[in-house]
Amino acid sequence: MTLESVPDRYAVIGNPIQHSKSPQVHALFAQQTRQAICYERLLAPVDRFADSVHEFVAQGGRGANVTVPFKLEAFVLAQELTPRAKAAGAINTLSFSAAGIKGDNTDGIGLVRDITQNAGVQLKNRLVLLLGAGGAARGVILPLIEENITSLVIANRTQPRAMELAQQFFHSGAPVSSAAFDQLDQRFDVIINATSASLDSELPPLPDCVFGPQTLAYDMMYGAQPTIFMQHAAQRGTAVRDGLGMLIEQAAESFFVWRGIRPETALVYRWLRGQL
Ligand code: ATR
Repeated sequence: MTLESVPDRYAVIGNPIQHSKSPQVHALFAQQTRQAICYERLLAPVDRFADSVHEFVAQGGRGANVTVPFKLEAFVLAQELTPRAKAAGAINTLSFSAAGIKGDNTDGIGLVRDITQNAGVQLKNRLVLLLGAGGAARGVILPLIEENITSLVIANRTQPRAMELAQQFFHSGAPVSSAAFDQLDQRFDVIINATSASLDSELPPLPDCVFGPQTLAYDMMYGAQPTIFMQHAAQRGTAVRDGLGMLIEQAAESFFVWRGIRPETALVYRWLRGQL
């Protein structure tokens, strides 16, 4: 093998990691764009994330995706942060170079692209309701604001968390506010479920008035079957979508960050949907 043909190494780092679909997704992107990369799963012990990253860099790693439970640790580890990573307060994409470790977050732009390009729903001048105030919710706020939405309302089971999160963005003049679930009294154009409630087959306690015939109800979770949130929304007449497209779009953006080439995602989406 000549030196030129040695593939660049990438990985997804998490714990657990065996379930991750990222290696298959990136292998398809690499094949399609003729990029010589290999992309592996890296199981990091829960107390050895930084060591695991440094070892991977020492072995020639060029970049990594970061998943549960290390997104906050990656934020601390990165020596340079992109604006969207700073706003998210968490990292899902690391790039390694002689200059050091750069942290980025592609989750939010992945969500926005899936809604606007794949689902064909524009966010500009729209009323958006974001459910949840954890890391998943925080990660998507800046990219949503950058779409020039009319307003973003954050609702969370523990309301002070929603207020605190809204305040962080409100300070910069963004149209972000918070509300308790039982205070919600208007119809929204897009409702995004960024809670982990679907994992427990639970529903955020939403009043029916938030759903309308033009509403898109989006669950960041995905699976072979519609989530309980999607089922609930569909019964109230809305369009629904799960987070599989977001998963693929965030991967495509990471691929672009590393390789400077944007892969086509539609075929990969169809393939992965068939695997669920
Ligand atoms: P993540 O990083 O995935 O966002 P997290 O920080 O633990 O994980 O946040 C989980 C989110 O889901 C929180 O907003 C949580 O609400 P609380 O802040 O009140 O804990 C929300 N959540 C989890 N289970 C829920 C349920 N059954 N109903 C409503 N919200 C729920």
